[in-house]
Amino acid sequence: MPDLAVTPTPLVLAEAVSRALGCEVWIKRDDQTHPRYGGNKVRKLVPLLAAARAAGVTDVLTAGAAGSHHVLATAIHAAAMGLRVEAALAPQPASEHVEEMLRASLAQAATIHPCASLPGALATLALRAVALRAQGRRPMIIPVGGSNALGASGYLDAQRELLGQLAAQGVPSPDVQVCALGSGGTLAGLLAGRAVGGRGGEVWGVRVTPPIAAPAIRVRALVRAVLALRASGAGCPEVRIFEGALGGGYGRPTDDARRAQELFSRDGITLDDTYTAKAAAGLVALARRTPRRYLFWHTLSSAPMGPLLPSSPAALAPGLRALLA
Ligand SMILES: Cc1ncc(COP(=O)(O)O)c(C=O)c1O
Repeated sequence: MPDLAVTPTPLVLAEAVSRALGCEVWIKRDDQTHPRYGGNKVRKLVPLLAAARAAGVTDVLTAGAAGSHHVLATAIHAAAMGLRVEAALAPQPASEHVEEMLRASLAQAATIHPCASLPGALATLALRAVALRAQGRRPMIIPVGGSNALGASGYLDAQRELLGQLAAQGVPSPDVQVCALGSGGTLAGLLAGRAVGGRGGEVWGVRVTPPIAAPAIRVRALVRAVLALRASGAGCPEVRIFEGALGGGYGRPTDDARRAQELFSRDGITLDDTYTAKAAAGLVALARRTPRRYLFWHTLSSAPMGPLLPSSPAALAPGLRALLA
């Protein structure tokens, strides 16, 4: 399979953030995993789409919220491999960014099924898989966020990449790594990579979705599944979750996140309201409590959106408009 992710992604010191917090803050630029559309989803799609190709899959089915970065990344990168993509979407609080993601997913000619809830979206996927199989096609369901053991193993590889990069650049190991915790695959993969690599400090997830989406017990199970997939006998490191950044709920902006957005923008880093600004707010809170050497996994694609959007956006059909709650 041609290389999907452009790696290693840069590792840079965030000078303005470090000055403001009085400790070193490094950024792992996973926003740059692909020039067309990057972010953390590309890391998970590398093993997932390789498996799809090996199994002769014809259609990829997945689900997410209306503005899902995972759905958009899947629509782009699976379609580039010649696979048909269908996505079942659930409502998400409206914002300019969320609507842009939805329009971009539609523009990739992905078939979108608007659903009233996430459980409804998952049921829709199951029914679509049955229908496609009955037509003689070979569908594969990719779970929400690409967060099964195979998808999360992409972040074991990312952690290994980081450890190699620290050594090559002569950068001391971080004391604390921080990422957004949504469906759990990124954190689980990083923890599995931490277990295998044996260094890299504490790994924290900042919760940005309701706890039911990725309780610690699920993250731990996912870490173990990733380690088993890679035939590693390493134990699961402590799962550390920062619980103070979610605010009013998934996709609802918070003042702390807005402040983190402003702070990181001084280093040229753009963060979104739903995931990365809240993760950065968690890092800021941790660093204010204990100034140490931090590393922020920047998981939001920074590829330009213009080429992914239709040139003249049509009005969204009522079913799709209803997804923007
Ligand atoms: C930009 C961004 N960062 C972080 C995450 C969280 O990653 P995970 O779902 O692996 O926990 C997501 C999930 O959708 C995301 O879109």
